[in-house]
Amino acid sequence: MANHLFRNAAIYSPQDRGKPASGHAQGDLLHIPQGALLVTDGKIAAIEDEASLLAKIAAADIASETDCRGQCLIPGFVDPHTHICFARRRESEFALRIRGTPYLEILKQGGGILSSVKAVAQTDESQLFEVTRRTALSAMAMGTTTMEVKSGYGLDTENELKMLRVIEQIGQQTPLDVVATFMGAHAVPTDFKDDPDAFVRLVIEEMIPAVEAQGIARFCDVFCEQGVFTLDQSRRILESARDAGLGMKIHADEVHDLGGGGLAAELGAASADHLLSVSDENISRLADSSVVAVLLPATAYSLRKPYARARDMISAGLPVALATDCNPGSSYTESMPFVFGLSVMMMEMSPTEALTGVTLNAAYAIGMARQVGSLDVGKQADFLLLDGETPAMLAYRAGVSPVTAVYKRGKKVASNSRVSEYPALHHLDWNDDN
Ligand code: NIG
Ligand code: FE
Repeated sequence: MANHLFRNAAIYSPQDRGKPASGHAQGDLLHIPQGALLVTDGKIAAIEDEASLLAKIAAADIASETDCRGQCLIPGFVDPHTHICFARRRESEFALRIRGTPYLEILKQGGGILSSVKAVAQTDESQLFEVTRRTALSAMAMGTTTMEVKSGYGLDTENELKMLRVIEQIGQQTPLDVVATFMGAHAVPTDFKDDPDAFVRLVIEEMIPAVEAQGIARFCDVFCEQGVFTLDQSRRILESARDAGLGMKIHADEVHDLGGGGLAAELGAASADHLLSVSDENISRLADSSVVAVLLPATAYSLRKPYARARDMISAGLPVALATDCNPGSSYTESMPFVFGLSVMMMEMSPTEALTGVTLNAAYAIGMARQVGSLDVGKQADFLLLDGETPAMLAYRAGVSPVTAVYKRGKKVASNSRVSEYPALHHLDWNDDN
């Protein structure tokens, strides 16, 4: 088996101790100032000080050598919360929001998520794939090597399964590892406006069994929010997902504190996401559980809401992961460097805590920590080079990606913000109708 050596790198990585990194450990990184990484068969075979690694292996055993020129080498980003499978953008809705119309008001009037539902229903699978692939590759060019993608713009069995097939294809036809989440309970469809419980029954009795039968999703998520799904409805949906063998996730306390964070703790969900309005009591309940808090600062930015209280969560011992939430409504960005920057500048996370948030803890939030999330021997050789000496460059370079190279399973898949083999992208008609 061929060995590929990456040398002369300032290596930074969280250390996987078998569980998400919390409290002090969230900011405690492995740092090798003059490090080298040995990749064999797409996996990390060794990671250590360059001189000591070179003393152990004969030059003849090295098939290729890359001089990282002192750049920073970190694990590939894991984006544990996205909605990148959508058919049309919502620029006119953005115009309304920046003039003051609240996000949930737009949804109440049949726009927002419901306009994305209409667009997905009108779009065939191959076009939906093209649009989704474009966003996925753009994320990869900025350093994302693993991502979670949710359904939830279908809201009926046929269209939810269509989305999940597209999501599966993104994993198969791009270098990315993709984790699919079924989110049939993303909004109450217009037809069920007067009887949301009937829709909850449809999710439980028809959609979850169909998703289970096809084995096409790893997790189930629900939007627990005023005017969307109540705490009790969310509990029923997540319990039946759990009984069907799916992991549980919840959009919790994004706008209003309905107690979604507490529900995640009670059910032992894999993650509780958003948490902009979570109570102190539920922060401590979450800290006492095995749940990872997935924070989405680009959503707070886009909705002009106060950011999640990352400092309080880390102090309480709750592991924090970071994600883009990329979607055409509340957070239209696939940039993990932007999310990293917001977490440092707006949530006062240290760059070392943020690095754990975009890698190891994110991998735990989507059940991928055995494969990715840190530079440990045996894990996939998913890593990035940064134009900078420390990961702080990701916050320092505001609005710009300092990622100069992206490696997936040891192979370079993007450099200087461009993917290496950019497949022909057809002309996309993905703007909204207005
Ligand atoms: O995480 N909150 C619900 N879902 C997404 C928004 C989806 C949309 O507006 O299309 C979120 O913010
Ligand atoms: Fe979301």
